[in-house]
Amino acid sequence: MGRVAELAGVSVRTLHHYDAIGLVRPSARTGAGYRVYSAGDMERLREVLAYRRLGFGLREIAELVDDPATDAVAHLRRLRGLLVERRDRADAMVTAIDRELTARAEGRKMTPQEQVGMFGPRLYDAIGGAYPATRRTDPRIAARIWDALGDARTVLNVGAGTGSYEPADREVTAVEPSAVMRGQRPDGAAPCVAAAAERLPFPDRSFDAAMAVSTVHHWADPLAGLRELRRVARRVVVLTFDTDEPGWQDRFWLTRDYLPEFADVLAGFPPLAGMAEALDARAEPVPVPWDCADGLFEAYWRRPDAYLEERVRRAMSVWTRVGREAEERAVRGLGDDLASGRWAARNGGLTGLDAADLGLRLLVA
Ligand SMILES: C[S@@+](CC[C@H](N)C(=O)[O-])C[C@H]1O[C@@H](n2cnc3c(N)ncnc32)[C@H](O)[C@@H]1O
Repeated sequence: MGRVAELAGVSVRTLHHYDAIGLVRPSARTGAGYRVYSAGDMERLREVLAYRRLGFGLREIAELVDDPATDAVAHLRRLRGLLVERRDRADAMVTAIDRELTARAEGRKMTPQEQVGMFGPRLYDAIGGAYPATRRTDPRIAARIWDALGDARTVLNVGAGTGSYEPADREVTAVEPSAVMRGQRPDGAAPCVAAAAERLPFPDRSFDAAMAVSTVHHWADPLAGLRELRRVARRVVVLTFDTDEPGWQDRFWLTRDYLPEFADVLAGFPPLAGMAEALDARAEPVPVPWDCADGLFEAYWRRPDAYLEERVRRAMSVWTRVGREAEERAVRGLGDDLASGRWAARNGGLTGLDAADLGLRLLVA
């Protein structure tokens, strides 16, 4: 037992306790009565200790390791996933702290969500459950993305979420760091790897194309992520947002008249020109159709009542990023203006448009 304790880096007392509660029971004893741990016992001990170090309670661990449907490989996979998530979370926290330090040095105010480090996968683990209600492939935006993919046969979709915009006629591999989002991918969706854009677990040039849709603004380090896309694929297609145009905050009535805080959300976001340069890409405007099927932030520019619906807002990360107070004020203001006719008076011209350029850009390299 002393030898096993030494190997496993735990005390003999811990091993005695695990034995007493039936968590790890040595399967045999020597003639002299010493406990003997078989290879199988050691494997179980390793699993128990790994779950313990990840913070699981002993009762919970007993259920996990006694589950007959989970073999050693499945435990290793699960443990690996949990550790990767923990590492990503730590990375995100470091980035959040760096952002706050930068913001403070520049005298900028951070949103409540920014202060608690609600970025990237962590944000999507918190809000991702509401995503599938309204977020899906819009065929017109998809046509633009698929066209830009050219004749690529193998495609990597980074920040893949629930799988929107994944072309059905190509061999797709998805990358998605949020467990909640991965868990919502439909049956039959492309295989999905738990990883982040900034550190893609693929060799150089291993895909014909890499795509990233509505995700770059969530990455801890957008430029590093874009360089990774460039590294692993011959062609890169990214749907992102233009904050270079002077007065971009006024392009969309929602940001202009009701939610100026949106500008703070994108304050640390790299300029479009910098992203295009990192990829050596050209930027093309992607107008948002008036009846856009994908419930992204700008989707309802001609259907303003939609923003009054909680279910619609919860599938847009912007509302979480600006904080509850700003959200409530914006929704109240919009509701009042819709009821009084003030919104229609200001934005009446929109009803004649089929699509609007609200800053969505396709970077194609
Ligand atoms: C708005 S969703 C977009 C999902 C999908 N591409 C779509 O168009 O529906 C943003 C996704 O980016 C993911 N994400 C956040 N940080 C990431 C990172 N560092 N690397 C890759 N994906 C990330 C989130 O977990 C989330 O699933």
